[in-house]
Amino acid sequence: MLTGLVRRPDAVGAPAPEQVHLQFGADASRQVAASWAAAATVARPRLRYGPVTGQPGSQIEADERSYTDAMTGQTVWTYHARLGSLEPDTAYGYEILHDGAVPVTGTFRTAPECRSGTFRFTSFGDHAIPAPVGNGSGPHSPNAGFVVAAVERLDPLFHLVNGDLCYANSSDQPVDTWTSYFANISRSARYRPWMPTPGNHENEAGNGPVGYLSYQTRFELPGNGTPAFAGNWYAFTAGPVRFIALNNDDVCLQDGGFSGLRRDSVPGYRADGFDPYISGYSGGQQRRWLERELTMARQDDDVDWIVVFMHQVAMSSAHFNGADLGIRRQWLPLFDRYGVDLVLSGHEHHFERSHPVRGVVPGSDLLTPAVATRPAMPAEIDTRYGTVHMTIGGGGHPYRVPGRQLHGPDEGIVVADVQAGSPLVQRRSVLATEPNLWSACLDKTSAFGFASFDVAPAEPGGTTSITATYWGAADGSPAYRPRDRIVLRKPDRAGQRYDDQMAVSRRAR
Ligand SMILES: [Fe+2]
Ligand SMILES: [Fe+2]
Repeated sequence: MLTGLVRRPDAVGAPAPEQVHLQFGADASRQVAASWAAAATVARPRLRYGPVTGQPGSQIEADERSYTDAMTGQTVWTYHARLGSLEPDTAYGYEILHDGAVPVTGTFRTAPECRSGTFRFTSFGDHAIPAPVGNGSGPHSPNAGFVVAAVERLDPLFHLVNGDLCYANSSDQPVDTWTSYFANISRSARYRPWMPTPGNHENEAGNGPVGYLSYQTRFELPGNGTPAFAGNWYAFTAGPVRFIALNNDDVCLQDGGFSGLRRDSVPGYRADGFDPYISGYSGGQQRRWLERELTMARQDDDVDWIVVFMHQVAMSSAHFNGADLGIRRQWLPLFDRYGVDLVLSGHEHHFERSHPVRGVVPGSDLLTPAVATRPAMPAEIDTRYGTVHMTIGGGGHPYRVPGRQLHGPDEGIVVADVQAGSPLVQRRSVLATEPNLWSACLDKTSAFGFASFDVAPAEPGGTTSITATYWGAADGSPAYRPRDRIVLRKPDRAGQRYDDQMAVSRRAR
């Protein structure tokens, strides 16, 4: 850790830095942002950092951002320090400082550059908090605490949060819910970036035009060129993997952001015309951004893998929310065209993995994804021939799908339309069913779980792989055990380019 720093007592009673967490910039080998909150505005928020093996090094100032929650009137102050020009694959220590407050320390490691090293990341969605706050109306479970320790035990380089972070829009104390969330994850997120994507429960009606102002204020994420929607979608590169975070509320048909609690409790909800149904809110900006990102990724010789993480799902066997036809219309054709390898999501509070899929079942009005025609070995998949989807929604929300809320056997559920509604009445989903031929693994035994991913960029023989493991735990148990494991493997970039050329020449013949 850093040495030589003077620790001062909290002499003037300044609020301590709290809720400390990290994020990567667009280049995970060189850019990290540290974020925190304080109970009041503070003087000279700043961060000192340096390699753990060296001297304390540099000091940079942090930016202050705040918002006032529409329901409670509480103002939240957050601080963000952006570090650039770091060394790849290097461990750093840092200290967060305010005038008059005891510093808070942490560490992180930058990503290896391109194909220079292996790394691990983890992922889950639908986290919630470990204990009730306020009147307890927001979801909570002991496993929401246990899963953080389980992630820490695997020592990933970073963690992906697939939406529905803490369900603040379901709580009578949304600010305290966020505080509880960060208090829970900071023991991990202070030492490794937790990279989020917003889910329908980050939509807090009254907080900003589309309800994401709390989420946007609290995180410092790579830019997407649209400041009004900062953090809602973005991309970053770690090793040979381009990670793309999407906000599916923009394309989903389901009315997922509705909260009767906020409708009835946010002052001015009716008078100010708040509407939590935000489908289509970006006016196509996100889709255009996504296509540009995918184009660039596939033209980048340093990118072997494209991993998308998002909240709502494209396929589901759970009779809970259902897959969303909006995702199938807007995203899946792009995933096919640009060969996205892996899609991680949440929203359905269980684990399900798809076969590699490409295109749609002929004649399907529901645009049912078709299993890739290239046969794959059961435990090893070449994602050049199809995209693998994983629903990892058992982070900690206590609504337990496995074993009790599954629909008919071998059925997938799709949100095919929405009924009429209003800002005051949630629009009900119109559900349809389909054969779930795309489903490869459905965990009916674990109430909770998360997944780990081991990236091996340069294997002997010219291949690259990602080994995915799903870790499940019983309700109330801190013991997470492997439930599913597959290997995604394909030729490295040079091999892929050769194969692409062969495919072109075959088509030309
Ligand atoms: Fe959820
Ligand atoms: Fe959700």
